[in-house]
Amino acid sequence: MPEWLKDAAFYEIYPQSYNDTNGDGIGDFDGITEKLDYIKSVGFNALWINPCYDSPFMDAGYDVRDYKKAAPRYGTNNDLFRLFGEAHKRGIKVFLDLVPGHTSDKHKWFLESKKQERNEYSDRYIWADHAFFMKGHPYIAGMSERDGIYMLNFFASQPALNYGFAHPNEPWQMSYDSEAAIATREAMKDVMRFWMDRGCDGFRVDMADSLVKDDDPDKKYTGLLWQNVREMFDKEYPECALVSEWSNPEQSILNGFHMDFTLDNPQTGYRSLFRDYRDVLSKSGGSGINSDSVDLAQDKSYFRSEADSDITKFLDWYLPQYNKTKDKGYISIISGNHDTPRLRRTLSYDELKIAYAFMYTMPGVPFMYYGDEIGMRYLDIPTKEGGYGRTGTRTPMQFNHEANYGFSDAKAEDLYLPQDPSLDAPTVEEQEADKNSLLNTIRAELTLRHKYDDLKADAPFTVLHAEKNDPLFVYKRGNLTCAVNPSKRETSFEGVSGSKVLFSLGETELSGNKITLKPQSFMVIG
Ligand code: GLC
Ligand code: CA
Repeated sequence: MPEWLKDAAFYEIYPQSYNDTNGDGIGDFDGITEKLDYIKSVGFNALWINPCYDSPFMDAGYDVRDYKKAAPRYGTNNDLFRLFGEAHKRGIKVFLDLVPGHTSDKHKWFLESKKQERNEYSDRYIWADHAFFMKGHPYIAGMSERDGIYMLNFFASQPALNYGFAHPNEPWQMSYDSEAAIATREAMKDVMRFWMDRGCDGFRVDMADSLVKDDDPDKKYTGLLWQNVREMFDKEYPECALVSEWSNPEQSILNGFHMDFTLDNPQTGYRSLFRDYRDVLSKSGGSGINSDSVDLAQDKSYFRSEADSDITKFLDWYLPQYNKTKDKGYISIISGNHDTPRLRRTLSYDELKIAYAFMYTMPGVPFMYYGDEIGMRYLDIPTKEGGYGRTGTRTPMQFNHEANYGFSDAKAEDLYLPQDPSLDAPTVEEQEADKNSLLNTIRAELTLRHKYDDLKADAPFTVLHAEKNDPLFVYKRGNLTCAVNPSKRETSFEGVSGSKVLFSLGETELSGNKITLKPQSFMVIG
């Protein structure tokens, strides 16, 4: 397990929208390199860059055409290597996004696989020979010279790579340990080696649980595959790491991942923290994606002050997962990502400050999405590159109040996506100047986390107080005590040890072994 993960604070960068240095309206590698000092100054020491490989961009780059070639719109492989080098000089690690479940239908493996004549890539994807049916799976027919149909992993442009089936029971299904399935796995390891040999520090793995098809409920066979990949990491790249898009730490971490994200889906406690309205909506058939479908009156998210909620729903999911995985890997709480509505849509600055204080004092390795450090808004805008409702979360970064908020010199209409038109659109520049801004609060929270070993990813975590219908949450990290009160009520708790308030937001009091937290406050005692 790489030591550096203990103190890692990740920053996710959507390269399209971060910083454009050549005026074409789209972010690029040099743009990220140029902002490394800013990123470091906030307290982030690791990056996850969304897919930046050659692609037709039918799903914003999650449709890879060449795993070993940077997308020309972001620059060259050498520009990316330079970014690795400049990041390392500043003590920043860089993760790329690995998309192992599918490629673009324009990838050369697929172009070969589509041919009727058998070749090295015929079995690289999942094909059935008969024309009209692939039980239980989405497929495409009528698009190839080859006499067959192929399985999809996500969009129509994303054919599923063949890692076999857990229990093949049709003639066209290969086993998870067939030669073809192993060849796909080895090809993906070759892609990882290519980038790690050139300075990449690991990968965020897209749809990591989707590889072996019709897997058992515990994902046993996909798990075996990741165990095999982890062996490669331990042996050849012990300083590199993997974080999964899985959101089932027990499955992912116990099968080899160093970290697993909490995702915005109903099975995890994450939603109860930040987006409880989406559960209400999904019951009525809505997705909660477009803003006009959000009914705040129904939003019971823990961090929304009006909700007057409690932490128990989150802990019901988190604690069992934490206890099963704490010695093996880290659960990653995220501020959001390129697939989720930005939190600023439903949470105020004060609510966000408290939410992130929680995120940065919990165990595991936290991830923040670019722009969330200033509370960028979710915009209701038309879809782009397969984004659909996710597009509004992917708009260009807002650095200052110059043209295009300092993102690009292009004409506004040529930007990758439109930007926040509000007069009070947040920017880095303005928040730098205000000591109580969200940005400076996050900076203080990260400074605190980096300062105390007791706040590191692996430091012990125990719950001191968490009750139904009570907004107060009190927990220990090593010898420190943290307390959160996101609500509009005053709360108190007796039985803390420690004599000093090391950090606080809002109004708090420590007297003897009693703490009092006024509405919307947070404290750390040591
Ligand atoms: C993941 C990505 C998402 C992408 C999908 C297909 O969920 O986060 O953006 O569209 O996988 O690759
Ligand atoms: Ca550019």
